[in-house]
Formats: sequence, structure tokens, C-alpha cells
Amino acid sequence: MAVADEAEEFLRQFHAEHPSQPVPLGRRLHQVRAAIDAAGTYRHTPGELAFGARVAWRNSRRCIGRLYWNSLRVLDRRDATTPEEIHHHLCEHLRQATNLGRIRPVISVFAPDTPGRRAPRVWNDQLIRYAGLRRDDGTVLGDAAYVDFTELVRRLGWQGPSGPFDVLPLVIDTADDKPQLFGLPRDLILEVPITHPDCPRIDDLGLRWHAVPVISNMRLRIGGIDYPLAPFNGWYMGTEIGARNLVDEDRYNLLPSVAACLGLDTSRESTLWRDRALVELNVAVLHSFHVAGARISNHHTESRNFLTHVGKEQRHGRSVPADWSWIVPPVSGGITPVFHRYYDDADRRPNFYPDDRERDGASGQNGCPVRH
Ligand code: ARG
Repeated sequence: MAVADEAEEFLRQFHAEHPSQPVPLGRRLHQVRAAIDAAGTYRHTPGELAFGARVAWRNSRRCIGRLYWNSLRVLDRRDATTPEEIHHHLCEHLRQATNLGRIRPVISVFAPDTPGRRAPRVWNDQLIRYAGLRRDDGTVLGDAAYVDFTELVRRLGWQGPSGPFDVLPLVIDTADDKPQLFGLPRDLILEVPITHPDCPRIDDLGLRWHAVPVISNMRLRIGGIDYPLAPFNGWYMGTEIGARNLVDEDRYNLLPSVAACLGLDTSRESTLWRDRALVELNVAVLHSFHVAGARISNHHTESRNFLTHVGKEQRHGRSVPADWSWIVPPVSGGITPVFHRYYDDADRRPNFYPDDRERDGASGQNGCPVRH
């Protein structure tokens, strides 16, 4: 869809959901069309930007946590240009989002792509992620999903990692500078040591996870305008850590170690040692976050909240676009209510899109040579 058409559709939606704006729809449409004719782009008002970001979350088909879409905190960072300013605002994002453990959903929106100037970018998938290093014997120290990215930041001068949970530095890339590395101050990163309520051997594994997932590789698209750097976060649902990050074979692959701590018989699949280890690891994740005072949700509560959201949206005359394969949790799917139904999977805008790293050839549209 052309920018002008998508802009019009968005402005109509904004005014329909928020009537009585200071500038009436007709006049605003006229302004925006004139700006697009003159410069190929237009600037969202702060109100449009906040609405657009919140509705992008509301339309995110993979997210089970959308009940609170309307309370997203929107930080307007469109005027930040230098890597130093951007780094400063990313640190401020972490501070406001972490909120000493009472995690709040926040998005920081940086300058959009425009015909005259490309938008700034961060090459990291998330603001906080752990490095991965392939050792000579083929095993990996840390998060195996980040081996290539870790190699890249090492080439840019980073010295780590020295342990399994070393936070990667940020790579900030702006139109006027070459990509630069920035560390995150330790005191801005809330981390939770993983302990089990009654199996101390699990504590001895020395596992930990960061409390706030801030996704930084999705492009926010509002009314025909692309914001490639618009990092956003919610709080964790335990299974993301306890059934995926620590468990997937191409991540930390920890089920065999957890099973050993629990003394399970791993000689045959039919003992269901994997399932038993998986449940206990998820118990440990939820327990640890509670002990640390870091907000977290579990998949039973979150599934019910999602259906509450579906009901609420229906009362506003809207369906909830959703992707079943992402909404159903990776453990105990069939005993959560979200399993037992299907969803409309419409692609509605505004929305978040995976960054398209293929668009300009091998090095990727965002300049990051790593595809991850
Ligand atoms: N699954 C991702 C992770 O483990 C985070 C995705 C967003 N999750 C969230 N609860 N907002 O880091």
C-alpha cells in the first residue's frame, strides 16, 4: 500500500477510536497529504505515535500478553541522532522498564526511515542477551543462538565472554557514524539467579536469567512510516525461560543436567525424564523470580488473561488476530484454555515486523552481517 493510503487508513482509525482531537480529521488528512507530496513522508503527532505503538502491540499475533496493550508507556525518542544519545535513551528505557523489579511495558521510538535519511539501528536482537562462544571441542559456552553475533562483536573489539551468562554489548549503527559498541551499566540489568524451592542441586548449576526481555530487532510500522529502531518490552512468562531459552537444544540445552540433579532415570524415553525435568525447571524459574521480586507470569494465568482480552476486544467490536502456534504455551498446552479454539490470523496494521535482513543483499538491510 502506498504511504498516503496507509497514512489515511491509520488516521481514520485514530480519530474513530479517539474522537475530538484538537485538529479535526479532515484538516489532518490534508496536512499529511501535503507533507507526503512535498517530502515523501510525514511526522506523527505524539498522540498518533502513542496510539500507533499501542495498536501495533494489540495487533501482534504471536503475543499472549496483550491484555494490557493500552497501558504501554511510549517514549518518543525521534530526535535522538548520535550513538551516544541513543545509548543514553536505551539505558533510560531499561531503567523505566525494570522499575526495580515491578516491570512495566515500555517502547522507545527512534527516528523513522525517511527518503532523505536512514533510521538508526541496533544490531542486537534484544537489548539484554547472553553471549555464546564455540569452544575447540565443539561445545558452546553460553547461549548457542548467539555464537555468530558474539563473533561479530568480538571482531568489533569486545573481549568477552568469560562465562555462560555474559551480557553482550550493544551495536549502535547510525547514518553518520560507523557501528559502535556500547556496554550496558551492570546496575541497569536486573538478573535472577535460578534456584529450586526444594532441590538445592539445581541451585548449584549456577543458572540465571535477565528479568526484562527488550526486543530490538522488530520494525514498527505505523500509517506507512517505518520505525526500524523501536525497542519494546513486557515482562516474562516463565515458560519462555524455563521451556525454551534454557532448554532448546540450540540454546542452553539443560534438560540432561537438570535430570541429573533430580536423580531421574534417563535410560529410556518412557520414564518421561525430559517432561519431569522440564516441569521442575519451570517451577524453579517462577520461584526464583518471585524470590527476587521480579515480575513474571505463568502460562495458566496468562492464558486466562488472553481470553479476557479476546472477550474485551469483542465487546469493542474487534476480533483478536492470533497465531495459535505462538499463543499456545510450550508446556501443558492442552490444559490451558487457549489451546481449545482457533483464532483469526489477519495481518492488521499498525504492527511489528521482523527486520528484513535480506533486502539489500548479503549484509542485510540493517547493516548487520549476522542473520539471526
Ligand atoms: N521469548 C523471548 C525471550 O525469551 C522474549 C519475547 C517477548 N516476551 C515477552 N514476555 N514480552 O527472551
